Amino acid sequence: MQIRILTVGDIVGAPGRNMVSKHLKPLREERNIDFVVANAENVFNGSGITPRDAELLFEGGVDCITCGDHVWKRREFVDVAAKDERIVRAANFSPSAPGRGATVLTSKSGHEVAVIHVIGRVFMQPIDCPFLAAQKAVEKARVRTPIVVVDMHCEATSEKLAMGRFLDGQVSAVFGTHTHVATADAQVLPKGTGYITDVGMTGPHDSILGRRVDRVLKKFVTGMPSPFDVAEGDARLMAALFTVDVRSGRCIEVERVEVRA
Ligand SMILES: [Fe+2]
Ligand SMILES: [Fe+2]
Repeated sequence: MQIRILTVGDIVGAPGRNMVSKHLKPLREERNIDFVVANAENVFNGSGITPRDAELLFEGGVDCITCGDHVWKRREFVDVAAKDERIVRAANFSPSAPGRGATVLTSKSGHEVAVIHVIGRVFMQPIDCPFLAAQKAVEKARVRTPIVVVDMHCEATSEKLAMGRFLDGQVSAVFGTHTHVATADAQVLPKGTGYITDVGMTGPHDSILGRRVDRVLKKFVTGMPSPFDVAEGDARLMAALFTVDVRSGRCIEVERVEVRA
């Protein structure tokens, strides 16, 4: 038996959240999707997430939210992240940080799916080793279920590929988030882990990484501060769809998914 897991790329602002509300449930039906993980670090005006945003995403068909490096931008989210088992922050944050770095949830098909989230270190803020944190979390998760999905959130393609190879054969999928730019390297690695370097952005693509082009250009060209307002045009939902064997936890197939408004 197989299970189909959709991993949704960074949801940016209201345009991204609306894409989920409008298109995720029909997509779940159409593609027979059992479980949805979404990276939601940019839902609130492009940075952070509020409890209400999380609620709307869950209502829209998301089963599990991963939070990235902007997780604590909204203070009101801290309590929710601490309590709600469907919300995962990075496993390599300080052990004293609220919330969890891994969770096990039940899919629509009744199978237990473990979701682990780590943040990389190349061109990122200082953080504990993502490889050791992932290894520890994977060992713990595999006691419960062979179906394990890892969100590797970072800038460098090499660091994401390294995580994919590091966990190859131990987890069902490693998917990259954070850059907002999708990569064309969806593949099943040699030992059976599904992999993609970045699933891309769910949000306005007439933009620079989801922000207004004029605002970002001003900053680059003049060096002057500029408010990076969320853009509006060409909203898309970007994700990867992993087909996984439920007994072995191995990935059978992975493909990029893109829905346009
Ligand atoms: Fe992001
Ligand atoms: Fe990020």
